[in-house]
Amino acid sequence: MPSVASGGVRDSTQSNNQSSGTPSKADFFTRKQKIAQQRKSLPIASVEKRLVEEVRSNDILIIVGETGSGKTTQIPQFLFNAGFCHDGKIIGITQPRRVAAVSVARRVAEECGVELGQRVGYSVRFDDMTSSSTRIKYMTDGLLLREALLDQYLSRYSVIIVDEAHERTVPTDVLLGLLKSVQKLRSGSINQLPNIEHMKADNGALMDKKNDAQRASILKQCRVGIKLSPLKLIIMSASLDARAFSEYFGGAKAVHVQGRQFPVDILYTRHPETDYVDAALITIFQIHLEEGPGDILVFLTGQEEIESSERLVKERLRQLPEDKQMLKVLSIFSSLPSEKQMQVFMPAPTGFRKVILATNIAETSVTIPGIKYVIDPGLVKARQYSAHTGMESLIIVPTSKAQALQRSGRAGREGPGKCFRLYPEREFEKLKDSTLPDILRTDLSNAILQLKALGVDNILGFDFMEKPKSEAVVKSLELLALLGALTDEYKLSDPVGHQMARLPLDPTHSKALILASQFNCLEEMLIAVAMLSVESIFYTPREKLEEARNATKCFSSLEGDHQTLVNVYRASDEFFEKTKIGNSRENAEKNLRKWCKENFINSRSLRHARDIHRQIRENVEHMGLRVASCGDETIQFRRCLAATFFLNAALKQPDGTYKVLSSGQTVQIHPTSVLFRKKAECIIFDDLLRTNNNYMRNVTRIDYLWLPELAPQYYALKG
Ligand code: CDP
Ligand code: MG
Repeated sequence: MPSVASGGVRDSTQSNNQSSGTPSKADFFTRKQKIAQQRKSLPIASVEKRLVEEVRSNDILIIVGETGSGKTTQIPQFLFNAGFCHDGKIIGITQPRRVAAVSVARRVAEECGVELGQRVGYSVRFDDMTSSSTRIKYMTDGLLLREALLDQYLSRYSVIIVDEAHERTVPTDVLLGLLKSVQKLRSGSINQLPNIEHMKADNGALMDKKNDAQRASILKQCRVGIKLSPLKLIIMSASLDARAFSEYFGGAKAVHVQGRQFPVDILYTRHPETDYVDAALITIFQIHLEEGPGDILVFLTGQEEIESSERLVKERLRQLPEDKQMLKVLSIFSSLPSEKQMQVFMPAPTGFRKVILATNIAETSVTIPGIKYVIDPGLVKARQYSAHTGMESLIIVPTSKAQALQRSGRAGREGPGKCFRLYPEREFEKLKDSTLPDILRTDLSNAILQLKALGVDNILGFDFMEKPKSEAVVKSLELLALLGALTDEYKLSDPVGHQMARLPLDPTHSKALILASQFNCLEEMLIAVAMLSVESIFYTPREKLEEARNATKCFSSLEGDHQTLVNVYRASDEFFEKTKIGNSRENAEKNLRKWCKENFINSRSLRHARDIHRQIRENVEHMGLRVASCGDETIQFRRCLAATFFLNAALKQPDGTYKVLSSGQTVQIHPTSVLFRKKAECIIFDDLLRTNNNYMRNVTRIDYLWLPELAPQYYALKG
C-alpha cells in the first residue's frame, strides 16, 4: 500500500454529495438551465466582450488560461455570436487529440442546442461529423494540415484557433509555421499566390471531385481578382509561458484569462513504488473507503493498462461488502469510440462515486466535472526517436513538473482537492521543468512528407518555432527516399510520394498499401494496416493467460502476426455477416461483442479497426489502386511485407535474441507475438516497444534472400 507521507488519509464526513444527481434523462429543461448556469459561471464568461475586441483588433492573439476556464468551449461561441462566420466562413479549432475534438464538439453542440454535425461539428481522422452548415469545427491539428494539402489558403476559415499549443506536438508545430505563411498570403494581394494550375497538374491524378471543386473555386477567385479575406489566428495554451509563442509570432499580443483554482493537498509516498498500477489500485480503494465524496481521476499510460486496471478494479469491488460497492469505473483514452467517451462527463448515479482511468489526455485537453481526487503515478507513454538507429519506440517516462502540476490541478476545479503522487517528494524535484517539444524527439518522416506535399522543399529552412535536429531531418529524408516517396533530388516523387502523402497513415503503412496493389494482396494489406492502426486487438487478462491463448489459437498463423490479424478480421467479418441475417443491426453488433469476448478479442479495438478499414479502402479505391486478394498464395503477402518493412528486418542470434539488420540493435520478439515460441530465422516487424527490453511487435517470418531482391535500394548497396 502506498504510504501517504504528509497529511495522511483523513476520515471525512462531509455531507455535500457532489457526485450525486441521477443522470437526468427526464428533465431536458433542467439540464439546459444547468448548462446555461455553468456557462455563465465560467471565468471566461465575464471577459467575453474584451476577448472579442482583442480578436477584432489583433490578427494574431495568444490566449493563456488555466484548464477548465472555458477557453475551448466558449471562445468559438463568442466569435460565432460576434459575427466571425459571415459569408459562411468557418471557425476552426484544432486539438492535438481526437478525443478532445470529439468530446468538446459534442459539449458545444449541446450548449448551443444544435444537433452535432450541424452548426457545431468535428472532423478527426476516420471520423467526419460536419456538414455544409458547420460553422464551428473542432478537429485534430493533423487533420487541418491535411486540409491544407487540398486548399493551401484554408479559404473556408475566417478564424483558426490552435488549441493546446503548449503540447507542442509535431503537427501543431508544423501547423504554426504553415498558418504563419497562410496568414501572410491571405492578407497580401491575390497576385502573390503561387501558380495553382501548376500544382493541379502535379497532383492531377490524385485529386478527387470535391478537391477539384475547391481548387476551381479558388481559381475563380484568383481570376476575378477577389482578395481572400484575412485570416485571424488564435493560439491557446494552458501553460503560463506565452512568451515563446508571442516571440515566434513577431511579438503578438498575449492575454491571460484568470482561472479559478482551489487549494490541492499534495501527498507523496514515502518510498518509490515498484508496481505503480497496483499502487494506483490500492489508492483508489483507500480513497473510496476512507475519504469524503468526490470523484477520482487516475492517470495511467495507455489503453491496455487502463483496460486491465478497469477489470481489476471491478473485480476487487465485488469483494467488498455490498454497501461499499458504489463505485462506477469509467475510462478515457484516445481511441475510445466517441459515444463511450461521453460517459465520463456524466455525473455518477446517486450515491455512487466515479473513478476515471485516463491517459494524459485528461491533463489539459478535457475537463471532467466532479473530480476531487487525483492519483498520479508520475508516468507517461512517449514516443522516442533515435536518429542513430532511425527507429522510433514507445517508452514510459516520468512526467515533467509542468505535467505533474497540471494533473494535480485537476483536483481543485470545483473545491479543495487532493492529489496522490505515487512517488516520493524528492523524485518530484528531479523531474524536468517541462517536456521537450515532440519535434525534437520523434520521427519526422510523416511531417516531412506533408511539408513536401505542401511545396516546402527546404525542410530546414521552414519557419519552425523550434528547428528539428538536422540529423533527424536527414534520417527521415533518407527513409522517405528509400521508401520511394522522394526523388534523387529529394522532391516528392510521382506518383508514389504524392499517393503516400495523400493517405492518412504512417509513411511505411501507406507504402505497404501501394506496394500491395502490385503484389496482388491489397485486400490482406488493408486489413493488416487497419488492425495495426489500433491498440491491442487481443486482450489477455493476466489471470486467464492460458485460456486466452487457447481461444486465439484458431486464428494463429505460423507465418506471423500480420496473417494472424488478417485471420481474426476475416473470422469476425464472417461471423458478423452470418449473425446479421434475421437480426437487427443492434443485435448483430451485440452478438459480435459476445463473439469477441469469447475469443479474447478487444471489441472496441476491432470496431475501430473495421471503421479504419472501410475508410482506407475508400482512399485506395479513389486512387485507382487495384484491390485484390492473394488467396492461398500468402507468400505474396509476406513478400510484400518484406518489400515494405525491409528496414525493420531482423536476424535470429544463437541466444534467441534478434539483431536488426539496418541498425545493429539487439531486440526481442514481444511475448504476445505468435512467433514468440516458434522463432523464425529472419523476420520483419511493425514497431518497437521499449520497456526493460527492446520488443518487436507484430512480427512476420520472411526469407533472408528476399531482402536484396525486394529492397535492392538498401540491401544491394550494402552488398
Ligand atoms: O479549454 P478550457 O480548459 O479552458 O475549458 P473548457 O474545455 O472550455 O471547459 C469549460 C468547462 O466546461 C469545464 O470546466 C467543464 O465543467 C465543462 N465541460 C463539460 O462539462 N463537458 C465537456 N465535455 C467539456 C467541458
Ligand atoms: Mg481546452
